[in-house]
Parts: sequence; structure tokens; C-alpha cells
Amino acid sequence: MSYKTSQRLGLDIGSHSIKIVSAERSQNRYRLGVAKIIPLYQGNEIYDSEGPKKSIVLPKIMEAFNELKIQPKRVKRLASCVSGTNVAAKEIKTINMPEEEMSSALLSEARKHIPLDGTESVVDYQILGEDPNELDKVRVLLAATTRKLYDAHMELLRDLDLKPGIVDLEALAAINSWMFLNELPEDGVVCFLHIGARRTNLSVVGTKSLFFTREIPLGGNAFNEELMNKYGLNWVEAENAKISQGMELNLPVKQSDDTGAIGLQQRSTLDQLRDEVNRSLRYYVKETGMSDIRAFYLTGGGSRLKGIDEYFHQKYNIPVVKWNPFDMIDGGDAIAPETAPQFAVAVGLALRGD
Ligand SMILES: Nc1ncnc2c1ncn2[C@@H]1O[C@H](COP(=O)(O)OP(=O)(O)OP(=O)(O)O)[C@@H](O)[C@H]1O
Ligand SMILES: [Mg+2]
Repeated sequence: MSYKTSQRLGLDIGSHSIKIVSAERSQNRYRLGVAKIIPLYQGNEIYDSEGPKKSIVLPKIMEAFNELKIQPKRVKRLASCVSGTNVAAKEIKTINMPEEEMSSALLSEARKHIPLDGTESVVDYQILGEDPNELDKVRVLLAATTRKLYDAHMELLRDLDLKPGIVDLEALAAINSWMFLNELPEDGVVCFLHIGARRTNLSVVGTKSLFFTREIPLGGNAFNEELMNKYGLNWVEAENAKISQGMELNLPVKQSDDTGAIGLQQRSTLDQLRDEVNRSLRYYVKETGMSDIRAFYLTGGGSRLKGIDEYFHQKYNIPVVKWNPFDMIDGGDAIAPETAPQFAVAVGLALRGD
């Protein structure tokens, strides 16, 4: 595995780890360059859901670049992403018009559709295609972030000596790792669950049906908290136990004491996540009338949890796939399938064209 400047470099900076992938297109296939996960927590350091400080992130990325023989100044094709409560994506329909008019009409329209925190925003859009129901209209995907978050991201890239390239939304990049390599079913929709450390993004995508995405404030770290409460573990013990054993530990459950609610009385994190997924899907069905969900694709480090696919399969009785974004990429078999779903965003970024 090696990096070449002809490859696009996908950089996914999470709150738990940083993912780096490079790839390029050769004819109809993609070829993998490098792929690396850089954990942000080691030893007894405790996870901070606020996200890592720049003073921690910068040296980690530089060290990884060094190891992968990536000279930041020479990176020609970069794609990175932003995420969280200050980003939003929404599909709207609009009258078809020439490119230049479309651009100004949409950008001024966007503010109405995607409420962020009311401060200045940065908006981008992508035409998804004709509206199959109204032929004079087109389907447009609006994506936005606050100016503040965008500028902070740009500054981070500059500090790394990287020339900014494409900036995507994390949830969209995760979906793209699938979309670039697969065909959507002609009818019905598929549901993506991108499970990170602090949050999960649910998205629904279909050829004829409205695109929908929503953030659920539960991720891999909520599983740690459950294990900490239930078995009286510290964060590091919970993290290690979760990774090696999943959510059913071979340990005595901590007895509840006078301080009140512990473990057992609470709904499990998986059940809470399912409740949120249910709620979003119910909303989607009500808004669109589309209830034909064909499959779930799970991405993000949280989706590596033992048994999470069987859990969702039992509840919904449709195929549930831990998505391996390297599956159809030449050289991708170098990455252990077990690790692969955590790379989805970085792969989605690396597969972006210009
Ligand atoms: N084998 C595993 N089993 C269960 N959970 C795992 C496993 N490997 C990693 N995780 C969990 O995945 C999460 C990290 O996933 P990921 O790298 O996608 O997060 P992130 O991008 O850093 O976070 P975010 O985007 O939410 O800020 C952590 O909660 C980690 O404990
Ligand atoms: Mg992430």
C-alpha cells in the first residue's frame, strides 16, 4: 500500500479516531492506496465527547502522514468532512433552470430549508436528477454548515499544510462509500445507519423517494456508558470489554444502591437506538408514504459492535449488512473485514471525483 499524488486522499477526523484512505479510479474500478485508523485515546486517557483538541489532533495526523510517506504540501486531491449539530442536509424540489440561475436561486432559498443556529452559513447543492412525479422539476440535495464550523475546519487543514479540497458532510460521505459501488433498488429505499462514537446518522435513500437524514445523539460511547453503569467498569475497561465481548459481559451485574437508578432498570442502549430509528422511520413513512425499506447498511466504528446486525435483523426482518467499503475496491482485501465499516466515511471521501 502506498500513497500517490494522483490518488484522492480522504481524511475523516472523528472524536474517537482519525481515518485516512487514499484511492483512485482506473477504468471502471477503484484502486486502494493507503488506509489507516489513528486512535485518539490510549492507555488510561478518557474519551471526551466534545471532540479532540487541535493540539492533540495535529501531531497525530502529522505523525501518520510521515509514516504513510504523505507530504501534505504535495497532496493535490483532498476530501475531508464536517459533522455534528451544525451541519444539515435536505432534499428539495425546484423548477428546472439554467445552471447559473439555479445556483443563485438555490443558495438564497437554502436558508429557509435548512435551519442551523441562525448564524452565517455555507451552503452547497447537488442535483440528484429529474423528479419522476413532476417532469418540470428537479430533485436537489442542499447541504449546509455554519460559517464558524467551516472556517475552523479550513484552519485545521491549513495548519496541517494541506490545500483544502472537497468538504463533504460526514453522513453523506458514509452513504457515498456505498453509492459509488452499488445500485439502488428500482423501488423501495435503503436505510443507512452511520454509528460513530458520539452520534449516529440515519439516512434513507431511494431512486424515487425523498432523501432523508437525521442525527441521533447516541453512538459507540453510549455503549461504554451502559457497561460502566451495569458492571461498575471504568471507561477503558468498558471500551476493551465492548470490543472483545460485545454488550453481554461475563461479569456480575452491579447491584443498585441508594443512589438510585443503575443499569438494569434503564432501557439498553441498543433498545434506545432502535426506538430512535423507529421514530425516524415512522416520520419518514408519514411524510413520503414510502414504507418499503429493503435493507439496512451499518457503517462507522460503532457498527463493529458484536451482534448489532443480528439485533436489527431480528427487529426488522430485512437484510442488515455491516458495510465493507473495501469490498469492490482493488487491493481492498488488505483491510480486515471486521475493521472495514469504520473506514466508510474516509473511503466515501477518497472515491469522490472532482
Ligand atoms: N470492535 C468494536 N466493537 C464495538 N465498538 C467498536 C469496535 N471498534 C470500535 N468501536 C467503537 O467505535 C467508535 C468509534 O467509531 P468511529 O471511528 O466511527 O468514531 P469517530 O468517527 O471517531 O466518532 P464521531 O464521528 O462520532 O465523532 C467508538 O465508540 C469505539 O468504541
Ligand atoms: Mg465519525
